[in-house]
Amino acid sequence: MVATTIANKDWASLIREMTLEEKCSLLAGADFWRTTAIERLGIPSLKMSDGPNGARGENFFGGKTSACFPASVSLAATWDPGLVQAIGHALADDTKTKGARLLLGPTVCPHRQPLGGRNFESFSEDPFLAGSLATKYIKGLQSNGIGAVIKHYAANEQETLRNTIDVRVSERALRELYLRPFEMAITEAKPLGVMTAYNSVNGDHADMNEFLLKKVLREEWGFIGLVMSDWGGTNSLVESLNAGLDLEMPGPPTHRTLKAVQEALESGRLAMETLDSRVATNLECLARTGCFGKTLSSSEEQAVDLPEHRALIRKAGSNGIVLLKNRGNVLPLEPANYRSIALLGLAKEYLGHGGGSAAVNSHHKVTPFDALHEALGDSCELKYAEGTRIWRSLPVLSSGVTTREGQPGFDVEITFGNSTPNKSIVSPVSALRFTELRNIAAVVMAGVYKPAESGAHYLSFTIFGEATISIDSEVVLQTENSRDLMGTLLGAADAVQVQHNFIAGKEYHIQISAKAGDASDSGISVLGNSYLGFSLGLAHQQEYEADLLSSAVDAARTSDIAIVFTGHTPEWETEGVDRDTFALPKNGSQDKLVKAVAAANPNTVVVNCTGSPISMPWVSDVAAILQAWFPGQEAGHSIADVLLGKVNPGGKLPTTFPRELDNCAAAANFPGNVQNRVVHYEEGVFVGYRHHDRFPDGVLFPFGFGLSYTTFSIDDASVEISTQVLTSAESTITVRVSVHNSGQVSGSEVVQIYVQYLDHNPAIQRPIKELCGFGKVELDPGQLGWMEQTVASRALAYWNDGKKLWSVDAGNYALHIGTSSTFIHAVKRFSVPTAFDLPVCRV
Ligand code: BGC
Repeated sequence: MVATTIANKDWASLIREMTLEEKCSLLAGADFWRTTAIERLGIPSLKMSDGPNGARGENFFGGKTSACFPASVSLAATWDPGLVQAIGHALADDTKTKGARLLLGPTVCPHRQPLGGRNFESFSEDPFLAGSLATKYIKGLQSNGIGAVIKHYAANEQETLRNTIDVRVSERALRELYLRPFEMAITEAKPLGVMTAYNSVNGDHADMNEFLLKKVLREEWGFIGLVMSDWGGTNSLVESLNAGLDLEMPGPPTHRTLKAVQEALESGRLAMETLDSRVATNLECLARTGCFGKTLSSSEEQAVDLPEHRALIRKAGSNGIVLLKNRGNVLPLEPANYRSIALLGLAKEYLGHGGGSAAVNSHHKVTPFDALHEALGDSCELKYAEGTRIWRSLPVLSSGVTTREGQPGFDVEITFGNSTPNKSIVSPVSALRFTELRNIAAVVMAGVYKPAESGAHYLSFTIFGEATISIDSEVVLQTENSRDLMGTLLGAADAVQVQHNFIAGKEYHIQISAKAGDASDSGISVLGNSYLGFSLGLAHQQEYEADLLSSAVDAARTSDIAIVFTGHTPEWETEGVDRDTFALPKNGSQDKLVKAVAAANPNTVVVNCTGSPISMPWVSDVAAILQAWFPGQEAGHSIADVLLGKVNPGGKLPTTFPRELDNCAAAANFPGNVQNRVVHYEEGVFVGYRHHDRFPDGVLFPFGFGLSYTTFSIDDASVEISTQVLTSAESTITVRVSVHNSGQVSGSEVVQIYVQYLDHNPAIQRPIKELCGFGKVELDPGQLGWMEQTVASRALAYWNDGKKLWSVDAGNYALHIGTSSTFIHAVKRFSVPTAFDLPVCRV
């Protein structure tokens, strides 16, 4: 990709010039986002940024704004590799504005269970779709001068105990499902970096897993780039260096200190040759990212909001929207025929991204209400009603609070190792997250609060650690030792709640005395042995108890159309925690709203913004459903474009929507045994539609499904397949499908190709069919178009555990040509005369 400025640099001679301290300094970050520079030797520092759907830069909260692109699940729903490549290219532009040269993405682990907290950040339940799109994302990014860091290698399919869980998975499931997207993207697009997962895989932490790092990644796939740990996910010194982990992140190191490295060398547990080889990979990465000899135009982070990015995000966001239902063609809306439209629920929320490291301080935060208002002007009345509130914990206190000195905010006294406070700060809000403070012991936070209204207001509190909260010296809330570290860190913990009487205008002294929790077994070395984080929220009684449902139902009853916006805010779908229920939050209130609105207005449309499937107990009550995912900063515009028919929805589900959680293969083994910290992937290769094909009753909307405002026809006569005899890895099948737009408007159709082995090999249970190709065709009304795809013989293979390689059985096969995994238009049979094996090695 990027031109190196030190062509054919002889790293060995440069390394010979280094002291041990200098070598060590290259093996771990200097800080949270940068590697260490060695000025004496002209070795520059490299900066990186999260990743994957925006280049956030170095501030988790409140930094310079960035372009927020659709979440990967939303991109996957476009089934459009060209569009994903364009997004990768644009992401590189934005990464440069943050002075970074590596973007920490894409995230490619397959969706194993709908509750996975990070599914939104990843593409699909299908490894072929994920691998194909990740390949394009990386090509787009790297062709524009920014290195990709594909993550999290491997088997990071859950957030529960993510740092310490051991994933026990068969080699076959690992190879066929969980490694496959990595294999495709790494061998085809050659990302500059790989980030290891936090979890263990079959007993060894991913950052020191010789099977994953040495055997598969380096030897078989021939990966020559940089392997870095996830943040705080380096679990050893010697083992990780020996297995091939080049960089401990973030810095300063907890394992790769000079002293520890010296001891390991002296004891003979670590060889200088190994150390040098890890140093060389780091140097090579600096060269490949163009760091030597070049500086970016400005080292200051910038917010560069480009109109072409806006247009691309809006287009990609709308192209990923999936039309799940459209009774009586209630969509697209026909505003000219309406006097009023009710916009209910989360209509005024910006749901462009999920939570955690993929959250982006977006240039724009377009809500559906604003976008529809902008599009429709005053041509028809928009009646907004909130309908329900889905606070996970109540809003933090900021206004109306003063310190001892009368400044806005709270006084905070921090105590580290001993019993006297060592540090005083002022916090503008009633929450603290001490990611930067290691080994903290206790905190006292105090402020004077003057409420604007009288009432028995509601207080909520989340903490990792324990605390007593008092108001005017009266204890109002006390917590036991609370252990939800990730939830607290990411604002996604469940809160304890109480009411307290307040009188408007009176002063109340609020004090939080908090003690840190034990973080020594958290698996996150950057936090040290103890961690403290908490958040106090407050909602006025009147606001909390208001009857929001009645006004929403009234608005629906008196409007021609009612649109209910449902979904997850970042507190409900985030890195760090899995969802604890399949239902929309909170406590069934969104479902209740949809049902009540649908009973009041037969033309009820639901627009759902979630990154993964949810239960839809109202599916038959409503007229239309759009699954809009997290479509990025132009969210409202992307949604409005589809609602109004400016964009004909062409999105297809990249993940199955089951009826109930129990219908999923992994239901009994997710998130595993939390006491023993082990999860068994007992379902093997039968995940997603590979499972649902065997138990079709459990499917609400199948993988690959999505409706359109037009109709397409494909039949058996439209499909041609080449009849080449398949004998080796090089053999391919060419599939040509003609598609006819038989409706009234332009639109796109995604033709999907699935392969099935028709005979039975008693030694191996295979999924009924597996995706092996897809193509998207855009057609005007009446137009006929062609989709052509090449299917590689690898698509016919399974992982042969006995032989430790890929095998293709002789016998009869079929290609299913469909527009979802269950809507198959044509089946073409072919045969393989003689069994053959495919090599594992791709170097
Ligand atoms: C996440 C990574 C991310 C890193 C830096 C970790 O918690 O798992 O995906 O790149 O933080 O923000």
